[in-house]
Amino acid sequence: MGDKVSKVKGTNDFLPEEAKKFIKLESLLHSIMSSFGYSFIKTPAFEKTELFVRSVGKDSDIVNKEMYTWLDNGKTSLTLKPEGTASVVRAFVQNNIGASSPINRLYYVDAFFRRERPQRGRFRQFHQLGIEAIGSENPEQDAEVIAVAYSLCSHLGLSNVVTKINSIGSSEARGSYSQALKEFLIPHADKLSETSRARLDSNPLRILDTKIPDEIELIKNAPVISDFLDDGDRKHFEDVLETMESLGLKYEVDPRLVRGLDYYNRTTFEMVSSDLGSQNAVLGGGRYDSLVKDLGGKPTPAIGFAAGIERLILCMDQANQSAPDKGPDVYICLAGDDAIKAGAPIAKQLRDSGLTVVQETLRRSIKSQLRDANRLGSRWAVIIGQDEVNANTVQLKSMDQGGDQSEIPSGDLLKRIRG
Ligand code: HAM
Repeated sequence: MGDKVSKVKGTNDFLPEEAKKFIKLESLLHSIMSSFGYSFIKTPAFEKTELFVRSVGKDSDIVNKEMYTWLDNGKTSLTLKPEGTASVVRAFVQNNIGASSPINRLYYVDAFFRRERPQRGRFRQFHQLGIEAIGSENPEQDAEVIAVAYSLCSHLGLSNVVTKINSIGSSEARGSYSQALKEFLIPHADKLSETSRARLDSNPLRILDTKIPDEIELIKNAPVISDFLDDGDRKHFEDVLETMESLGLKYEVDPRLVRGLDYYNRTTFEMVSSDLGSQNAVLGGGRYDSLVKDLGGKPTPAIGFAAGIERLILCMDQANQSAPDKGPDVYICLAGDDAIKAGAPIAKQLRDSGLTVVQETLRRSIKSQLRDANRLGSRWAVIIGQDEVNANTVQLKSMDQGGDQSEIPSGDLLKRIRG
């Protein structure tokens, strides 16, 4: 026997039990998104590296240390997608999608790759549901996108979720705020971690994201971005909050919520769950009004969010909302060569009429086959041996507790199962 090859750290096999939850969740996501009028979009698994450098930002953690990047053919630098917004906007610009409609509501369910330190809820390959509404700058668009996030959580039965929201204003506001934050922190530089000290120069806003208790304490007294917003930003934020209130959507304004991707402006939000550990963000998003222009398109405002599918599944497990297992309708048990030949056409006939059917292929004893039918949670077992082949009948056994068994003509099988 050869040596075993194990999976790469931080990646997951979705074995059938987990995969079932993924499929259930995915089909729910498609129906929620279509109820809000969003269309599915699929972009490639990898892109030119410069796309992420120019959108997510060269000073972001993602671009700095988390991307899977390689030089293709010794020439072009390519990167496995670490997130979806940049790719969707690239596709939007490249295909001139904005020309056919002034507003485009798009969503994706896709795999993404970040070289992060793996832990509960944090992986190197993970999946997101992402939504991007491209075209409207108005606060009702922000409220709509946030309402999708709420709808998602309520359909999934996630109750321990809190929405944190903030406005980070325009790039001018962020510039002045960064300066003020830096001035506040410089006298305390000796108390900062090495990472935060480096961020003082590269991107002071990122220091607000610290998980170090002493730094969190220090930041409590730091200036807040809301004091740097201009009237337009302030009015926009008030209108977003007002619309959310009219929809009964609860939120907490968190003036220190900055997001780890550079393309955001104005509204930013995250939903965090107490059912998760330190990686508690179920989803995050915000407005990115300059990104389409920065990636070569006509200036077009936009807003979106992405939810981590693995984290949604963890929350669903906690809330006991994971898929209950539904077994097949019929298990076909076969004994003897002639019965084995008869099995496949019967299975086909039942499947053609819409039933789910599992047929024995291991040639085990009828007793073991029935045990398997039971294990799978099958509703019925159809048992065929030589006697049944000769008589053109089958044994139909209900798999309920104390289920009866009767011999019926093969031709009556469908009618009997359909009841
Ligand atoms: P993000 O905050 O980087 O935003 O990721 C969104 C969500 O993806 C997180 O809240 C988390 O649930 C999940 N996630 C991120 N990294 C990991 C990981 N390593 N393992 C497991 N789950 C993870 C974005 O990606 C933006 N593109 C969202 C957006 C869309 N903004 C506007 N439109």
